[in-house]
Amino acid sequence: MKKIQFMQARCPLGLFYLVICYCFLPMIVATSASGQVPAPVVNSSQVPLDVSIPAGFPANQNPIAFFDDYSWRAFIAVAWPALTGQRGEPDSNLTVDGAGPRVFETYKALEEVFHSDGTAPSGWNQFDSAKYNSCGIAPSWGDMTLGSFSKFSSVGQAGFGNLVGPLIAQNRTYVRFLTSYNKVEFDQIMANTWYLREKLPAPNSTDSITFNVGSLDVKSSWIDMTNMPHAERYYTRTANLLDPFTGLCKPTRVGLVGIHIVQKTPSRPQWIWSTFEQVDTVPPVEPGAPGTFAFNDGTTTPMPATNPYNLNKVIQEPTPPPFNVTRVQPIHPSTQATNQAYQAALAPNSVWRNYRLVMTQWPLKPNSPSDPGAPKFTFPGIGATTPFSNVTMETFDQINPFTSCMACHTTTMRQTDFLWSLNDHAFPAKSATPNVMAISSSFRALVKVLQTGRQESEKAAAAAPKE
Ligand code: HEC
Repeated sequence: MKKIQFMQARCPLGLFYLVICYCFLPMIVATSASGQVPAPVVNSSQVPLDVSIPAGFPANQNPIAFFDDYSWRAFIAVAWPALTGQRGEPDSNLTVDGAGPRVFETYKALEEVFHSDGTAPSGWNQFDSAKYNSCGIAPSWGDMTLGSFSKFSSVGQAGFGNLVGPLIAQNRTYVRFLTSYNKVEFDQIMANTWYLREKLPAPNSTDSITFNVGSLDVKSSWIDMTNMPHAERYYTRTANLLDPFTGLCKPTRVGLVGIHIVQKTPSRPQWIWSTFEQVDTVPPVEPGAPGTFAFNDGTTTPMPATNPYNLNKVIQEPTPPPFNVTRVQPIHPSTQATNQAYQAALAPNSVWRNYRLVMTQWPLKPNSPSDPGAPKFTFPGIGATTPFSNVTMETFDQINPFTSCMACHTTTMRQTDFLWSLNDHAFPAKSATPNVMAISSSFRALVKVLQTGRQESEKAAAAAPKE
């Protein structure tokens, strides 16, 4: 964080720096009062085991800079080029800008873990037959299949599709989502056959499961790059893209627009929640950016209060027009400073400079596994004035802190240790047994969370001054 150190060092020196300090210091004071701000590390292919807060960091100060530093290091490690033929292993002979599939793209994908017939997934470094692939192809190392149009995947189809409609980019293509698991997490699911619903704690029991430290999962969002301006500013690759109309797949150039990274660490048994976006997703324009956005047409047309499209009905031709997406609250100044420091530390031509951390969410009290993920126990907390959502994934969950990552995932804290996809996709899946929605208290609670978030959005929209 060169810029901050520079300002701190020069602050007492004259009027010019005083003005600079006056303008900028309040932004960073939360983290720099102790004089301890981590320096960016962009040359490590390893995900940090935990957040690193220096001993003696005052308990009454916000450790946001250390959590955000952790998030950036985790992002760089999962975006690192993978070792050819090895799933989940970085090629440490390359830099983060090296060519090839990224580490997180070689993790075990959701559809590989949860087979529609409840059979066991293939081993970590192996691949299933075409039968379990949504494109009907037998994948091999480095391949990517994008078959999901809803961030809630089959949850959307199982009954509350109107609450989780699809997102349409400015080029009139649907955003696709991909969830995947690292080896620690996958191995534990395998060893315990947790892909079978009968092996998970019953909805109304008091049993629970606990993932091992080092478990990490990722959810990423992608756009079809066809006719997308400034494609060079996105990390792109070829993926098998499922066409919702024909049910057929086509190799298509796709671009990464968002990524969630969640890891179980020794100090944070409720996991640390990090979320990144490509910087041209929504306004404001980042310095040096061309001013075109993937999810906003650049006019003042506001974002609708709720998604105008219903997942169940919308996957039809022609794809309806996109709506404008905006960020409701500005990114925390300290997170912005960390973003600038990391972007500047990356190679000048690195595509990863065009990505930003939106937020890290963490349990305030370390080593307190019984604390739930409710706002009161987590950053950014009740009355948050900074984001707790990713505009490409929680587009309409930006207003009520009870729809923050941890607040929503805490609904399945006991049953699946915060891991919604396990609750959602274990065999038999909800689509096979539609009444799971009705009998599962976690799912009833999820629907409630979404409905409350929706009501808050509608209230806020009604209160906002009309154009
Ligand atoms: C309103 C509820 C809700 C909110 C808010 C939410 N999620 Fe999720 N998330 C889910 C559900 C439900 C799934 C499972 C989707 C599926 O099974 O297809 C999920 C899946 C995930 C996954 C894949 C692993 C898993 O847990 O199944 C990650 C990673 C994730 N979310 C991270 C985040 C992060 C980071 C945030 C905040 C920026 C966030 N989520 C906000 C409900 C939510």
